[in-house]
Amino acid sequence: MADARHRLLTIVEGVDAHVRHLKEEGVRELPVAPPTLAALSEAKGDDHSAMKRASKAAPPTPETPIAFSLKPTSPTSTTLKSIADRVAACRLCGLSATRTNTVPGQGHESPEIMFVGEGPGADEDAQGLAFVGRAGKLLTQMIEAMGYQREEVWIGNIVKCRPPNNRKPTMDEMNACLPYLKEQIAFLKPKVIVCLGATAVQGLLNDMTMITKLRGQWRTFEGIDTMPTFHPAYLLRNPPAKREVWTDLKAVLEKLGRPVPESAKKRKG
Ligand code: URA
Ligand code: SF4
Repeated sequence: MADARHRLLTIVEGVDAHVRHLKEEGVRELPVAPPTLAALSEAKGDDHSAMKRASKAAPPTPETPIAFSLKPTSPTSTTLKSIADRVAACRLCGLSATRTNTVPGQGHESPEIMFVGEGPGADEDAQGLAFVGRAGKLLTQMIEAMGYQREEVWIGNIVKCRPPNNRKPTMDEMNACLPYLKEQIAFLKPKVIVCLGATAVQGLLNDMTMITKLRGQWRTFEGIDTMPTFHPAYLLRNPPAKREVWTDLKAVLEKLGRPVPESAKKRKG
């Protein structure tokens, strides 16, 4: 018991010293997880119950007020939210002039797979969500055939604003927008990226080779295994190509060490 108390005291002193050091360095704002912030506010309250509980575990350190503002953050979603906020205000390319909503992308915050499409269409522009139209429904079927739920993966695009009349985004527009995607990838750390269609491959890998040649061949983007395949909108126009996409998605499952679901095996082979 005395040992545990001693260890706790050491931790408290360590944190105290670290915070003082930060303050000396000029840091004036600290990110604090919501449960900690709640405990601190409770400790500031009238009955000081949290403080009392804490002081049973360790003697209070000298009560020097620390002039930090404590910023509530959730360690997981803050970065994504900050990217989405910057995207929402972004005017780096001409697509900002005609968009209704920005479409930063959405999904799981530590996904095994990240799907990257071209850019928002009319439905996505109206809702601010990626792949919610007809192509999106097909993408959901592809994800489910792989044995995942949509919520378990990340779904996004190369450009975050809708190109007018669904034209292909220009190389300049894609390059202007790419840093957001890069930040998202750095945060999400997917094990595999699936590039949906030639435009996604051009935007991400800067490779102009025809998608019919590229698909099914592993690439890497910043060290992450990347699989180019056909875009679901192309599959809507050309359903027989679903067979090739399924081959590519099975290669993704193999890379991830995941089994091909029995239900999909029966239907797709
Ligand atoms: N097509 C895309 O490339 N992205 C979407 O979000 C929807 C359709
Ligand atoms: Fe900014 Fe990307 Fe939208 Fe262009 S497409 S305005 S770079 S968010």
